[in-house]
Parts: sequence; structure tokens; C-alpha cells
Amino acid sequence: MSDVHPPPADFAARAQIRDTSLHEEALADREAFWARQARSLDWATPFERTVEGDLTDARWFVGGELNAAYNCLDRHVEAGLGDRVAYHWEGENDDRRSITYAQLLDEVQRVAATLRDLGVRRGDRVAIYLPMVPELPVSMLACARLGAAHSVVFGGFSATSLRDRIEDAGCRVLITADGGFRRGGVVPLKDNADEALAGDTPVEHVLVVRRTGAEVRMQDGRDRWYHEAVPAEPVAIPAVPVDSEQLLFLLYTSGTTAKPKGVMHTTGGYLTHVAATTRWTFDLRPDTDVFWCAADIGWVTGHSYIVYGPLANAATSVLFEGTPDHPGRDRFWEVVERYGVTILYTAPTAIRSFMKWGREHVDAHDVSSLRLLGTVGEPINPAAWVWYRDVVGGGRCPVVDTWWQTETGGQMLTPLPGVHAAKPGCAMQPLPGFGVEVVDEHGQPLPGPGDGYLTIRQPWPGMLRGVWGDPQRFRDTYFSRFPGRYFAGDGARIDEDGDIWILGRVDDVMNVAGHRISTAEVESALVSHEAVAEAAVVGRSDETSGQAIAAFVTLRGEHDDGADLEQTLRTHVGKVLGPIAKPKTILFTPDLPKTRSGKIMRRLLRDIAEGRDLGDTTTLANAEMMTELSERAAAAR
Ligand code: WT7
Repeated sequence: MSDVHPPPADFAARAQIRDTSLHEEALADREAFWARQARSLDWATPFERTVEGDLTDARWFVGGELNAAYNCLDRHVEAGLGDRVAYHWEGENDDRRSITYAQLLDEVQRVAATLRDLGVRRGDRVAIYLPMVPELPVSMLACARLGAAHSVVFGGFSATSLRDRIEDAGCRVLITADGGFRRGGVVPLKDNADEALAGDTPVEHVLVVRRTGAEVRMQDGRDRWYHEAVPAEPVAIPAVPVDSEQLLFLLYTSGTTAKPKGVMHTTGGYLTHVAATTRWTFDLRPDTDVFWCAADIGWVTGHSYIVYGPLANAATSVLFEGTPDHPGRDRFWEVVERYGVTILYTAPTAIRSFMKWGREHVDAHDVSSLRLLGTVGEPINPAAWVWYRDVVGGGRCPVVDTWWQTETGGQMLTPLPGVHAAKPGCAMQPLPGFGVEVVDEHGQPLPGPGDGYLTIRQPWPGMLRGVWGDPQRFRDTYFSRFPGRYFAGDGARIDEDGDIWILGRVDDVMNVAGHRISTAEVESALVSHEAVAEAAVVGRSDETSGQAIAAFVTLRGEHDDGADLEQTLRTHVGKVLGPIAKPKTILFTPDLPKTRSGKIMRRLLRDIAEGRDLGDTTTLANAEMMTELSERAAAAR
């Protein structure tokens, strides 16, 4: 039997959801249930039908028209909430700014006016490559206001990654900054952008936010400073009502090949999904809570639970630019204390670091405002879960372990904080209205406890609508393995109570510190270096980051291996993909383990990387060298 934690009594007594009646409502009539949720948004034209089409072709809230920015801003100001703080921005270097809903609406309209003057129209794509500054959500909402789609590229990605994403989406405008602060240093975003736009590019205009004051090159006719281009005086730019299925944004994520996928999210369904789950999962009280999702907006967690979910609910959030250990290891707890944060949502990797640094950093601050804690992005080990609940939450706060993906748009599995007795490490149950099922290898739902694959059997409002420019990849990736089902790529276990445990990816996708990286991307970055003949990459388990990237490399004849080359290759991967994709270890080997038909045996490399017994290697073409490789891997670990 696993360790079970019922909702803390005080929390349960006040929780907004205390029973499973929402689940029952959804089971009884799923469409009516989602229609009711959608009606908590403001529709310019009411929808005629709730859902049409199957999983590969779903359309939600058909015939309806709405605007996401209107729903996140105007309607709250019209309801008299203009003075409520939307964001407490906590920047690096002691920069701080609290922005009300009225101020946010004003700035969004001014930026929308600028984008409109630059020719941005409904359906266009705008790339955004910014640090965690208020201009980031402002730019996203300005796009949404015009019916244009944003494509936010994480500021830690390289020039090459930015270029690939801009080209794939055909972005006409790029919004970036002169740089971003990180741990006291500066990330040269504008230099990266210049490199990404060199030569042929679809980008016609670049807006540059002044953040660091660093000297940057401004290209005549193309680049303009944001503070000069955006009008200083208020302008009224109407929110354009768009079809419920209008593209709201693209967000690129790693698949099993070297080319990232442009995951497509549309307006009505996505907004319904994230608005509802923000209320349910976090027991959100928009008038009193201070909500802090400590992700970066460059990832889906930030899109859904820093921007659209909280704003659609008129909540007050913290927008945090920094890192957990700069200037001190108490940075998070200082922020919690300063703003009286009530709900904290972060990644298991961060929690494991906090745990390693010791409870004195938490204890140095008054964090008694916290009433609920959430995690996302990777499996959380029970020890970290218990530490989070006891040390950070003082035993008063329920912990919600939320499973979802870039593709699902919003949360799908989690304990409900006032209902379920949580089990450390377990994502528990589907939220109401989602048809999540664990199936065996033939696609049959498991009849009882056991291990299988996580699938979703009906369309859900926030689901991805496609892969930009590649409908075939959309069908192949998600709907081919189990016909009639969406396959998430994760393995899952059902326990004796019917609760769901996520076992991790079953494809060649790694999860490093909650970030998704494909083995193929890193391999392709490695072989793009002249010294490398062949590379194989695997994720091995790592105490802090969940998984770490382990690379096995064979060199071209004339190159010498050695510490210098290892460093050169790590830097090279950082340059091609971004620092998060740098391999933790690189082992040089004259040969990679292959089957007799020439296929690289990743399973074996994973065993080597994790120091497991190699077992039977007789199917290998080159069995002898494996023993040597595993000895060297042990030495490198
Ligand atoms: C993959 C999705 C969800 C936003 C951040 C990551 C893993 C996510 C959990 C969890 C175990 C989790 C899965 C999933 N994952 N949440 N609570 N427990 N694993 O989004 O980059 O699209 O990655 O993250 O493997 O497939 P993403």
C-alpha cells in the first residue's frame, strides 16, 4: 500500500470542490458539461454546437466567436476590476512592477496598435523571443487582440532554434529584447535574433524591448525600439472577435525526430480548458489568491498557467524573471513572503534542488501565506513530494501533481485538492470531462491494476489541432499507434485503487529538468560538428534533473578524443540548440552498439549510461567493445 495523504482538514472544509459531482456531471453529459464551462467565457457570437469531428479533426464550440484578449482583460475591467493587480512582476536586479488589469489592457492596446501599423492581421504569425518581462504577456495578448497567432520561443534557445521556428511558421514580425538577465549575466537575445534573421527570412519587422541597455545593432528599415514604436498615449484598439477555431498560438516542442513540431492551439476550446482547470486544480479564488506559476512563458506551462488561465479568471499572479538560486538560495521564499503568495506551482527538479540546499532557506522566510502547492513537468519522487508538503507547505497545503503536455493544452490528470487523498508521486485521476485511459499494447483498456500506455479516447477542448504545416506528422505521431485514440507517448500504471501513475516517456524523448528534448535533436546537433562521425544519445536518470543527457560519439579518423573535444562538443550543442540541450556526459567510442542490421541499440546504451548489467549482447555485431564502454561509462559517472 502506498503512502496516502487526504486533503488537510482546514483546506478541505473550505475547498470550492469537495466531492465528485463535477465528474459525474461530465460523465452524464460530456458535451453539456463543456458547453457550460465554455459559457463562463464571454462570446461575441454564441456557439451553435459544442463539438464536431473526431480526435484527428475536432472542432469545439462551433459557430462561436470570441477574443482571447477580451476575455483576459476587457471584460474584467468592464466588470469593475480594473484596479486589481494582474501581475506582480519580480524582475532581476531588484526590478519590480505591479500591473493592474486596467494598465495591462492599456499597454496591450498600444502594442496592438503598433503591430497593426506593421501590417499584422488576423491569421498572421508573430515570433516572440523575450525574457520574463511584462512585455512578454503584453505581446502575446496584443497578437490575440488582432486575431494573430504568437509563436513564443524560449529565451534559452539558440539562434539556430529561433531561425528554424521563425521559418517554419513564416513569422512576419519578431518581438525581442536587447538582452535578458540571467544569474547576474546577460543573454544576448538581439545578437541571437540578428543571427537567426541573417539571409533569407520571412521577418519584415523587429521590435526590440530595452531590457539590459546593452549595445545592439539596429538594422535600418527592419528594427525599431519597442519604447519608440509603441505609442505613449492610450489608444482604443478593438478586440477582433475570431472564430472559436482560429489559431491562438503555435508552440514548438520536441518530437522523436530532429525537427521540432509546431503544436497548434486554437481559441475557444483552449481558453475554456485552461480557465476551468486553473479554477479546479488550484481551488482558485481570484479576489484573494496570489498565484505563482514559476515556469517560463517560453514553455506551455507558462502559456496556460501564467498567461491565459489566470488572466481569464481575473486572478493576481507573480511574473518572475529570475532563477531559484540567484542572488541567494532563498530566492523563492523571499518572493513568496514579499507578495504573500498563496498558490505555488513549480517543477520537481526545482523542489529537488531546494531539498538539497536545505530547509534553512525556507525557514528564513515567512511562507505561511501558502495554502496550495502544485508540481508539473516530470514525475516527482515521493521524498521530494513529502519534503514539499512538510517543509514548504508546513503540512497545511495539499500538493497537486499535475500531468499534461504541450499537446493537451492544459492539465488532464491531478488529484483534486479538496477531494482526493493524494499519493506522493501519483498524478491520480483525470479532471472532469477528459477521457484518459490506460491501455495495453493492443489498445485495450486495462481491466484492473497493471502497466500500459496513457491514451485519451475522445476529443477535449484544449487539445492540439495539428502540427503546423505537417498534417501527416500530426496523424502519425498521435493517432497511429492506437487507432481511435490519442497516444501521449507516456507509459502509465493503474494501481489497486484505480489511480494513475506516470511511468515516463516510452519514445525517444528525454525529460531534462522538466524540459522536453528529443534524442534525435541532440544527435543531429552533434553530427553537425566536423569532428563527429556518428552519435547516439540517451536520457539516463539523474538525481536532480530527473534525466540527464548522455551522448556516445564516434569521431572522424583524424580527430583526437579528450577533455578538450568533449568541452568543444558540449559548447557546440549549446550553440546549435541552447544550453539546456548540452549533454552531461560524452563518451567517445570507436563503435556504437548495433544490431546486425545496423540499428543503434539505445536500450543497451541506456543500460550502459545507468550502469546496469548488460545481459545478453549476443545479437550485437560488436559485442566485445561493450564491456569496455560500460567500464568507461562507470568511470565517467
Ligand atoms: C511530458 C510533456 C506539462 C507541461 C510541462 C511539460 C512529462 C508532465 C508530468 C507529471 C510525470 C509528467 C510527461 C509528458 N510530464 N507532467 N506530473 N508526472 N510526468 O510539457 O514539454 O509537453 O512535456 O512531460 O512525460 O509527456 P511537455
